[in-house]
Amino acid sequence: KGIAKKAAKGSKITVKQAAVLGAGIMGGGIAYQSASKGTPIVMKDINQTAIDLGLSEASKILNKKLAKGRIDGKAFASTLTNIVPTLSYDSLKDTDFVIEAVVENPNVKAAVLAETEQNVSADTILTSNTSTISINKLAKSLKRPENFCGMHFFNPVPLMPLVEIIRGENTSDETIAATVAYASKMGKTPIVVNDCPGFFVNRVLFPYFAGFSLLLNDGADFTKVDKVMEREFGWPMGPAFLLDVVGIDTADHCTDVMSDGFPTRMPKLDKDPVTTLYKNNMFGQKNGKGFYTHTLDKRGRPA
Ligand code: 3HC
Repeated sequence: KGIAKKAAKGSKITVKQAAVLGAGIMGGGIAYQSASKGTPIVMKDINQTAIDLGLSEASKILNKKLAKGRIDGKAFASTLTNIVPTLSYDSLKDTDFVIEAVVENPNVKAAVLAETEQNVSADTILTSNTSTISINKLAKSLKRPENFCGMHFFNPVPLMPLVEIIRGENTSDETIAATVAYASKMGKTPIVVNDCPGFFVNRVLFPYFAGFSLLLNDGADFTKVDKVMEREFGWPMGPAFLLDVVGIDTADHCTDVMSDGFPTRMPKLDKDPVTTLYKNNMFGQKNGKGFYTHTLDKRGRPA
């Protein structure tokens, strides 16, 4: 946090217009967060259905706040106006800061980042909201790796204060400073960390999930584990519910990256219950089926 504060002081860049690539639960949450704190943000995806879902994610949060009297009609309208949906890279030409939040797949992320770099100005900062993939590895797809770093938000974005900012070996100090400053403007608590698979948080979280999977393979009942962790141990969500919130698909991809990165510390399990759910297309809260069954709204998002 100390490093982050120092870095932000050095920032000469003020983000006037941001962009988020991918209008999923994370993309929608990031768009809401930026817009609600006064920085306009272009939200780009590849089809209108995805865009509509991203907008509905932001609207849902705003409607709840309006109904509870936490915001007024003016704040509601200005936040929505600050989110500019688009299907085209043309809308990114005036963007000074990009957050890539597409699927957790190294090849897809690398391709989207490279494509984006060709469509923004030479000093635009590019960041990736990857959960686990090495920033140095993603930077290989870029011509300007000095303008690139990780910016890792947590789900649900509006409620989780932390943002990990990951410095790659070629990331410039200015890129880190601007990212720290923008994260702070979004109302988040940035920490600057070095690059490695899983960065800081997921190096803690995924071994915990792996321990949970081992317990299940030993015959434990996931509902009982959650009950103990929540009611008796006092954590807000037990591991099964948290995996559903993170997304079983995301968690499965992250587990692979962590096991590849730390093969002796986090070996792949023969029968990982998370992989079994994933193979059965049970992605957790995002499609209503995971360890638990979740209620979805009429657009197919968690109610
Ligand atoms: N989006 C927006 N707002 C939400 C929300 C969501 N998904 N869920 C709840 N809220 C709002 C509620 O409407 C309520 O608003 P109000 O204060 O205006 O009434 C407020 O948040 C509190 O709601 P709850 O009483 O239901 O909230 P809880 O006290 O249960 O806290 C929580 C919710 C903060 C999400 C808590 O359950 C928690 O901390 N869970 C753990 C989450 C976590 O660990 N996330 C990180 C996952 S790892 C990750 O994302 C990284 C990846 O790389 C794997």
